[in-house]
Amino acid sequence: MTTKEKLLAIFLKQAEQPLSGEVLGKKLNVSRTAVWKAIQTLKKEGHLIESLPNVGYVYLPSDTILASEILKNIGTHVPQLTIQVEKEVTSTNDLLKKASIDGVDQPVLLIAENQTKGRGRFGRDFISNAEKGIYFSLLLNVQKKFNELPSYTILSAAALAAAIEKKTEKNCQIKWVNDLYYQNKKIAGILSEATTDFETQSITSIVIGVGLNFLMSPAAIPTELQEKVGSLFTEQPEITRNQLIAEFLNQFFDMLQDKEQNFLTEYRQRSFVLGKQVTFKQQGKICRGVAKAIGNTGELIVTLDTGGEVALSSGEISLSSIT
Ligand code: BTN
Repeated sequence: MTTKEKLLAIFLKQAEQPLSGEVLGKKLNVSRTAVWKAIQTLKKEGHLIESLPNVGYVYLPSDTILASEILKNIGTHVPQLTIQVEKEVTSTNDLLKKASIDGVDQPVLLIAENQTKGRGRFGRDFISNAEKGIYFSLLLNVQKKFNELPSYTILSAAALAAAIEKKTEKNCQIKWVNDLYYQNKKIAGILSEATTDFETQSITSIVIGVGLNFLMSPAAIPTELQEKVGSLFTEQPEITRNQLIAEFLNQFFDMLQDKEQNFLTEYRQRSFVLGKQVTFKQQGKICRGVAKAIGNTGELIVTLDTGGEVALSSGEISLSSIT
């Protein structure tokens, strides 16, 4: 452990209590200057540390994303994960896909405060600069055929909605296939990507990316998006992002390990589209119908206005309107 990490551990145990540079130096067996330097680094990382003249330093609880705080809140059914937290990256999905190609074969959770090239489905940009956003990707190594795997997008959407409900009592709906809606506005999106091995024709790794507007005041949302895009909170809540990320992991691995695949029931119950009129484009043609069901592999079954039924695969179609 570095001096900075040891200092943070002391602060987290004794948050809101004044601690002098001298006492901290003695505890860590370093000079007061070394304590001061470590404090500057912690502040730069986003921690709130007040300096009180003639008293010392006071660590104020904040919503800084910390691996240690996430680990504290996850259950024993969650596999051992490397958790990496970064201030800014291009895209957490891109970095973990690269890590997987480079041979990383352990589960990794990569979280960023900001992304400069956040991506959504179909190559769309995903704006990743909420005042407090949650942007992370989970890398899992699998070695299975495609049809042996659950739909990770569906499972992740169900897990995120369940985690939000458990921690905040807020009820989110899921717009097929990967968007979470709260009060009729999109607050989160999920992007799952797979790496395949050509020779064995199997999936070698999965990267699941989650982006959530955790805290964003309405004024921070660009005017042209205000009707469509929202945020889980508009004022600082009591729950921290660490607690919500940890609960997502708890729900995700619970659902993944569940032989009964109950996540599909959870997903269907929270659907924003079932029973509604939907519009989508297929082979250049605009089609309309009523969303009738979500099949066992996550496909959306639509009764077409022109007669007959069609099963839409999530990889190919996005709904253009729902009424
Ligand atoms: C969508 O809305 O179509 C999906 C958005 C997924 C965004 C997340 S944020 C973390 C991860 N990194 C990315 O570049 N994308 C995903």
